[in-house]
Amino acid sequence: MAILVTGGAGYIGSHTVLSLLERGDEVVVLDNLCNASEASLDRVSELADKDIIFYQGDVRDPDCLQRIFDDHDITAVIHFAGLKAVGESSRMPLEYYQNNVSGTLVLLEEMRRAGVHNFIFSSSATVYGENAPVPYIETTPIGGTTSPYGTSKVMVEHVLADFAKAEPQFSIIALRYFNPVGAHESGRIGEDPNGIPNNLLPFIAQVAVGRQEKLRIFGNDYPTEDGTCVRDYIHVMDLADGHLKALDHLAAIKGYKAYNLGGGVGSSVLQMVHAFEKASGKTIPYDIVPRRDGDLAAFWADASLAKKELGWSVSRDLDCMMRDTWKWQENNPNGYND
Ligand code: NAD
Ligand code: WQD
Repeated sequence: MAILVTGGAGYIGSHTVLSLLERGDEVVVLDNLCNASEASLDRVSELADKDIIFYQGDVRDPDCLQRIFDDHDITAVIHFAGLKAVGESSRMPLEYYQNNVSGTLVLLEEMRRAGVHNFIFSSSATVYGENAPVPYIETTPIGGTTSPYGTSKVMVEHVLADFAKAEPQFSIIALRYFNPVGAHESGRIGEDPNGIPNNLLPFIAQVAVGRQEKLRIFGNDYPTEDGTCVRDYIHVMDLADGHLKALDHLAAIKGYKAYNLGGGVGSSVLQMVHAFEKASGKTIPYDIVPRRDGDLAAFWADASLAKKELGWSVSRDLDCMMRDTWKWQENNPNGYND
């Protein structure tokens, strides 16, 4: 019996694979390595002292999926594989819909063919769009997204809801992540973005090791306490734990259900900078620059449903997120190339 993890070589996938192996699950990873390196899996395997069965292939390739389902006794699929850069998605919408939407359709079709009926999908807080009241809660209808990336996640969630209605033997959970940060406490695996990081914490961490000169803070005139944007940052190992809890909960679910995975607390960009400085002992130089298109002033999760039904809540605070980010970046200034 094994769990198929698509996109398992990536940032969140690799941390989740480690947690799965550590609790004794067998894992098969499918990843085309378009945004990851196999080194992450080597390190996961080393940390867990267990083997990972790895297929380098594409989730849109039905033959590859059939081979995996034929060769292994897969009981559930966790589907991380996809493209995730918000800005890039506006420049390459077809690639995003192709990968994120079509990829999921092919996967679901092959799961149905193989009789594998347990599915966990990586969704995002971005599905709430720009007009949802905060804190975001699952009962708010999704939509109103501002990027093809966000719309691709909304589309997949609609597909999942319709599919689950038509195929009652399926149990499907969409996990809506807030802002994942941090790394495994060993400092051996972490986030290793290609090129210039889009996201805040990887950028800060690269400033600390001299790979970027200065942080640019996108706006300090938002209606928040210090004027910078507020987000709900969540430690990637808490997120990994959320997947284990969701897997355990699938048996209790018939149909489709979405859960927020967030801490329920907002932190501003300036608070993040100061918390990182405290954890690392480094000064992070920054400039305040104009707002970034599409950024929302403030959002965080109502995380009570996951607590009540999955028995999950975060256990790692901002200091821990910063400590682990710094350990990873300091030990691997050039990511997996080191
Ligand atoms: P990531 O890019 O590190 O991981 C995605 C992995 O999928 C990569 O290893 C990549 O090589 C692989 N991949 C992409 N397309 C593929 C395909 N067609 N076939 C096989 N493999 C493919 O990203 P991540 O941060 O680990 O995110 C994982 C998932 O979580 C994504 O679906 C993302 O949209 C979602 N998510 C991420 C965040 C975040 O801030 N990191 C927030 C909310 C949701
Ligand atoms: C956080 C804050 C920026 C970089 C994105 C996606 C979302 C989800 C997570 C996948 C914002 C500010 C950032 C920098 C800055 N991903 N910032 N300087 O935008 O909340 O969410 O990633 O689903 O869908 O939209 O995260 O880390 O990019 O930004 O000032 O160099 O940091 O303006 O306020 P965001 P982020």
